[in-house]
Amino acid sequence: MKIILTGDRPTGNLHVGHYVGSLRQRVLLQNKGDYDELYIMIADAQALTDNFDNPKKVRENVLNVALDYLSVGLDPSKATIFIQSEVSELTELTFYYMNLVTVSRLERNPTVKDEIRQKNMDRSIPAGFLNYPVSQTADITAFKANIVPVGDDQLPMIEQANEIVNSFNRIYGETLVKCEAVLPKEGAARRLPGIDGKAKMSKSIGNCIYLSDDEETVRKKVMSMYTDPDHIKIDDPGKIEGNMVFTYLDVFSTDDLIKKYSDFNSLDEMKEKYSKGGLGDVVIKKVLCNILNEILDPIREKRKYYEEHIEEVIEILKNGTLKARKKANETLKEVKKAIGINYFE
Ligand code: TRP
Repeated sequence: MKIILTGDRPTGNLHVGHYVGSLRQRVLLQNKGDYDELYIMIADAQALTDNFDNPKKVRENVLNVALDYLSVGLDPSKATIFIQSEVSELTELTFYYMNLVTVSRLERNPTVKDEIRQKNMDRSIPAGFLNYPVSQTADITAFKANIVPVGDDQLPMIEQANEIVNSFNRIYGETLVKCEAVLPKEGAARRLPGIDGKAKMSKSIGNCIYLSDDEETVRKKVMSMYTDPDHIKIDDPGKIEGNMVFTYLDVFSTDDLIKKYSDFNSLDEMKEKYSKGGLGDVVIKKVLCNILNEILDPIREKRKYYEEHIEEVIEILKNGTLKARKKANETLKEVKKAIGINYFE
């Protein structure tokens, strides 16, 4: 059996970094059909663990993320798209799994540690936030998922999930399934920097190009992209390394697209000219702009359709959630039986 589960916290619109880092692969995976079940979860309950004081933000973004999923081509007839908080079995599983992990183990999780540092939470960390790797274990095991496509920051979660699975099976008998992370392919696509070239694309820094940005917004953002500060006159030699326009072209362009939108036959040719001098920033930015818009156009079109048919989106989420709940309920029953708290069966 090949059961795939992955998800996102709904804390903002998804951007082109998400697209090349994970969404594109999910759609490919979906269309290849080499799996038995495919679940995509909108992790609103997890988003609340560090946004409990801003539920409005989480609520609004549930629909935004659903729109992003559908507009990139995730297909509800192949993938079960659902809302985490609507599957209460996940919370119940979390409660039993919490007994199988120590506070000090939770505090050692490097991703959680990083997040605590970034948010200056220190010792005032909410118990729910510290516990989210356990809740993520419930997300994965409830569906008996054995394949979890995630970014590399999620590896500690997978490791902790498997530890909990091992403990559970050892103490209560073989019940839960171990899982394996699938990471995106090597290269810049894995951590697409923001348009400022400073950090990974991130909503809080404000350096993102969103899947929902219109043409004019994309144009403005590309025109403001960090290139080579020493490339002042067109004839000056320009640097490729660290130049965001080329970093993005590396990720988004193909030779066909380069031929279509520039006077060059390949990206390498274009880079060569830029390095030697004689190719202006505005020209290369226009090429990138056209390529991004060509990729984003069909996504925008689908989004527009679904924005005008929100009731369809709600229906998709409802149906997906029902299906997810059924499966999670079966697992919860097995878990309670294994522990011996299935009194009325
Ligand atoms: N922690 C993941 C993220 O921040 C989201 C997530 C929640 C998830 N539950 C999951 C991912 C289960 C994979 C499997 O992106």
